[in-house]
Amino acid sequence: MAKDAKKRIEQLRNEIRRHDYLYYALNQPQISDRQYDKLFAELKALEQANPELVTPDSPTQRVSGRPLEGFAAVRHTIPMLSMDNTYSADELRAFDERIRKQLGGEDYDYVVELKFDGLAVSLRYENGRLVTAATRGDGEVGDDVTANVRTIKAVPLALLDGGGIPGILEVRGEVYMPTKSFIELNKQRSQTGEPVFANPRNAAAGSLKLLDARITAARNLSFFAYAAGEVSEPLAQTHYETLQNFKQFGLPVNPHNAKAGDIEQVIDICFSWSEKRLTLDYKTDGMVIKINRFDQRDALGATGRAPRWCISYKFAAERAQTTIESIDVQVGKSGILTPVANLTPVLLAGTTVKRASLHNFDELARLDARCGDTVLIEKAGEIIPQVVEVEKELRPAGAVPFKVPAKCPNCGSAVAKDKEGVYIRCVNPDCLGQLKERLRYFAGRDQMDIENLGPALIEQLVESGLVKNFADLYKLQKSDLMTLERMGEKSADNVIAAIEKSKARPLWRLVAALGIRHIGGQSADILAEHFGSLDALMAADVEALQTVEQIGPKIAESVYEYFRNPANRAVIEGLLTAGVRPEQPKKVRRAGQLAGKTIVVTGTLEKFTRPQIEQAIKQAGGKPASSVSKKTDFVLAGKEPGSKLDRARQLGVKVIDEKQFQEIIKG
Ligand code: IVH
Repeated sequence: MAKDAKKRIEQLRNEIRRHDYLYYALNQPQISDRQYDKLFAELKALEQANPELVTPDSPTQRVSGRPLEGFAAVRHTIPMLSMDNTYSADELRAFDERIRKQLGGEDYDYVVELKFDGLAVSLRYENGRLVTAATRGDGEVGDDVTANVRTIKAVPLALLDGGGIPGILEVRGEVYMPTKSFIELNKQRSQTGEPVFANPRNAAAGSLKLLDARITAARNLSFFAYAAGEVSEPLAQTHYETLQNFKQFGLPVNPHNAKAGDIEQVIDICFSWSEKRLTLDYKTDGMVIKINRFDQRDALGATGRAPRWCISYKFAAERAQTTIESIDVQVGKSGILTPVANLTPVLLAGTTVKRASLHNFDELARLDARCGDTVLIEKAGEIIPQVVEVEKELRPAGAVPFKVPAKCPNCGSAVAKDKEGVYIRCVNPDCLGQLKERLRYFAGRDQMDIENLGPALIEQLVESGLVKNFADLYKLQKSDLMTLERMGEKSADNVIAAIEKSKARPLWRLVAALGIRHIGGQSADILAEHFGSLDALMAADVEALQTVEQIGPKIAESVYEYFRNPANRAVIEGLLTAGVRPEQPKKVRRAGQLAGKTIVVTGTLEKFTRPQIEQAIKQAGGKPASSVSKKTDFVLAGKEPGSKLDRARQLGVKVIDEKQFQEIIKG
């Protein structure tokens, strides 16, 4: 039986790896998402039934357990250099001239690639298994981001073994965030009051440098391989062949890489992408031109900073000139006031831009943008229009600096500057502008998901006084709605039905919908799962909240304060009375070999990384903990154990080694 399971598990893993490759690397899925999910579910179930067969490279093991305390340093055996830039065809020709001279009349060719706007990482595969992933850092030493990179589905945990994989293979490439995910992430962040990322590169870097890989997993990063680092046996004589090899190993290689026989062809290819790049679903800010043959690369060598055999060609960021017609101040759901420039409509990188956020009043003061000013706008990361420069010499006489509002533009109450000093907020809890934004968020697709309750209807409901808080939504009768302008009978029925339907949304949606500061869908989900009921969550003190994995002091404080506020409690009471019944779906727990046991790990293990061992403990039903107490059942000690081992001995807690641990989980 176990033998059959083992065989089937291997089969499933290989199948899944192949489909991951078809989907993430080739963009050519052969099966539906449903069929894929079925394979995945079968593998998961088999692994759960046979935990001893779980290996770190299984497709089920991408996301690890607990947050790290910091990143370890990784020294690159071959440094990760940077690249010189060019901005014109003539500069490219000059680069080619230098190459021609140094190669002394030899023939040579180039490979032209897109320059991905993310961050460089080095993946180390040993015997086909991903063992380390490191950032570039300063080129010599980077951060160990293995746990985070493992969550990127485009990165194979095990290479497809069709033969020819070197024992040691370092793959270098770019981790990036697809445009769609970037937009979605910023949308979520602005809804939860977190600062937005200026461009996909910052978003990718920020997501890869998180100590908690589970958050990285939700960020939807991707990867393209573009070079080899250390290899135990040479792969090929040229770069182009290396990329072909990568593809065979299941690594994602960009499909637009092209060979070019001479520099004019290189220039044509570069120019051809200046517009076409806007149709890609990831961002590129230029092209990379590389000499193809490795022996020629060696002959060309490198300066201290960058190799002589490659260069980048940067596209000019598209800018447009327009004027600021007026500046609005918008009120967000937590009262933050944001200045927004209304522009004379102008075409920029494929869309007509009419408005641009000025972010906050500090930024507005820095730019000194005024009504009537001629400004240059650019799309941050090709996406979000922003004002980058004010043409002061074109300023009309009499243009006055924009005054930071002393009052909320919506309700007229006083405003206050945040402790952190960036945001200005309307502090009136009854501000109707804020209320409208809060209701919009509450009804949003990622929260209570109330169809038909759009911004126009919310405007009417608030202005008419029918809705003063979330609970009022659930008290609405059809006859109330019929008093509103342009409301037909059928629409009123639909709205009532949609509101009714939302009463049964799971607890996490309600927690997310309340608009508690720093709480988004993910943290709401963690809290809901941990506390299991609204009552328990509301009763939790800061300490109890902080013991929840991934819930830091800022969130804990914010949740605690929210539920201590009598007005908030009254609204929740009202929601419950009106029939909202948030329930947390129950998760079935299975008993494992470590069911109910608390285990502390210390020192370095041979077969597991920290996240992997924690995952393994959990999989067997145990609870990984970080400090040793009398309640600890085992201390698992690896090489160079720390003071935790001493403490275990003092307390008489049982100490086991890695081998014993493996025996235990085998059952
Ligand atoms: S090859 C010697 N290829 O650009 C440099 N780099 O400015 C070898 N990058 O740190 C790197 N797309 O993050 C290479 N197709 C591509 C690239 C690329 C983006 C980035 C990479 C590197 C930076 C250098």
